[in-house]
Amino acid sequence: MDLQLKEKSVIVTGGGSNIGRAIVLELARESANITLADLDEGQAGKVAEEALKLGASDIQVIKTDVTDLANVQTMVQAARQKFGGVDVLINNVGWDDLMFFSQTTPEFWDKIIRINFLGALNCTKTVLDAALEDKTPTSIVSVSSDASRQGEAREAVYGAMKAGINSLMKSIAKENGRFGVRCNVVCPGVTIPGDDDDVGETSMWAKKDGMFTEEQFAKIAAALPLKKVGRPRDIANAVLFLSSNAVAGHVTGQVLSVSGGYSMIG
Ligand SMILES: NC(=O)c1ccc[n+]([C@@H]2O[C@H](COP(=O)([O-])OP(=O)(O)OC[C@H]3O[C@@H](n4cnc5c(N)ncnc54)[C@H](O)[C@@H]3O)[C@@H](O)[C@H]2O)c1
Repeated sequence: MDLQLKEKSVIVTGGGSNIGRAIVLELARESANITLADLDEGQAGKVAEEALKLGASDIQVIKTDVTDLANVQTMVQAARQKFGGVDVLINNVGWDDLMFFSQTTPEFWDKIIRINFLGALNCTKTVLDAALEDKTPTSIVSVSSDASRQGEAREAVYGAMKAGINSLMKSIAKENGRFGVRCNVVCPGVTIPGDDDDVGETSMWAKKDGMFTEEQFAKIAAALPLKKVGRPRDIANAVLFLSSNAVAGHVTGQVLSVSGGYSMIG
């Protein structure tokens, strides 16, 4: 299947670790022009080197805090300047710390809201403005979570923000389809890094068993229809499919779970 992403200008937020890293590396295999926007410049730089070896047409790392609109505007402008526009935005940044809602604080809510929702608003609005100005057919893929579809213990605020992303993408898809803008969502289930080196210090997997113990991973896998937890490349494959106008050009406003069958929504 030819995704026709060669030399397309693709922004990946949070491309330094785990799922975002896998998305960048798959895009590299497709010879895309990549703008990797991440807080962790050092880790992003390592991924950029790998991407060039795998065949990326070109890649630039822009240190970006997606919660800061001015920062995001600078990053999107850099993508437009270097690669002549933006064909694809992948909103991948997200963060959570597992705890029961009764244990959370307003400071914690604020952090979750800013990273998981405000960040996607900033990036989506800035890229949409560029798409409408440049009259470029643009694909936006947001990485949400099955917690948004199922509800999940210890992920109340995070799941609510991810549900917000699903709805945001559908509304923007409805408003802007006539301008050639497609918006879709991928919902991972538990997706663990292949190797400890595949994450940087700002990754929520920096301490792998800080999220789940090995025993809990095994229990999660056993409860899934496919009997295994996800790997970053599983998510990347779905993201690349949806991002491609060549193969998913008639798909918009959709929410796709890639979670070993954890959620099955009709
Ligand atoms: N891994 C999972 O099990 C899982 C499950 C469901 C959903 N998700 C979602 O998938 C996405 C990727 O998850 P992951 O496991 O790869 O995360 P991760 O924590 O390993 O990586 C996130 C990356 O985003 C960067 N980042 C964090 N805050 C940022 C900010 N404000 N601005 C710019 N960059 C920032 C980090 O530096 C890091 O490189 C997230 O949206 C997450 O919510 C992950």
